[in-house]
Amino acid sequence: MNFRSIEFGSDAYRKECALRDAVLRAPLGRSLYDEELASEKQQKHFGLFDDAGHLVACVIAVPLSPTEAKIRQMAVSMAHQKQGCGRQIIRSLEEHLAGSGHVHLSMHARASAVGFYEKLGYTKVGPEFMEVGIPHFRMEKRLTLYGNEALRSR
Ligand SMILES: CC(C)(COP(=O)(O)OP(=O)(O)OC[C@H]1O[C@@H](n2cnc3c(N)ncnc32)[C@H](O)[C@@H]1OP(=O)(O)O)[C@@H](O)C(=O)NCCC(=O)NCCS
Repeated sequence: MNFRSIEFGSDAYRKECALRDAVLRAPLGRSLYDEELASEKQQKHFGLFDDAGHLVACVIAVPLSPTEAKIRQMAVSMAHQKQGCGRQIIRSLEEHLAGSGHVHLSMHARASAVGFYEKLGYTKVGPEFMEVGIPHFRMEKRLTLYGNEALRSR
């Protein structure tokens, strides 16, 4: 599997949108394409690609300050879930963000995915809230040199 950035508007970005629509929106009876996507030009898009070059997972990072970033739109293709791809793309993203000084990470995690993020060192902060019609929690993680696999391996 290869982790690499995806350019907004590229063919890979169109595949990223198709994956997000299938995994994150269609199961909720919604369409990603009803949303305002133009602001995503300012965001950092990443994909995990298999050896044949097919996109199997994607995630977006939004820098909030020189040290803080928000993670959003994390999706692993249905066929590749529960095989370690989610862990791999988040670890690679953390390593990338730490390299640019973004060590305070946060996200709005679906309640159904909280256990996944807890395994990766994220902590729930504050009460449950609703987003896209389903329960979410804010989760946070601070990357540290000695507490994070991604940083130790740099
Ligand atoms: C949630 C999701 C991102 C996890 O990715 P994944 O590739 O399936 O997860 P991994 O195989 O890397 O799992 C890593 C660990 O987390 C666990 N895990 C995976 N999904 C989990 C979940 N929903 N709840 C609790 N634990 C979970 C795995 O069992 C594994 O644990 P282990 O190391 O003890 O074996 C993925 O399943 C997905 O895209 N789901 C649908 C969309 C979604 O919910 N996105 C997140 C929005 S916030």
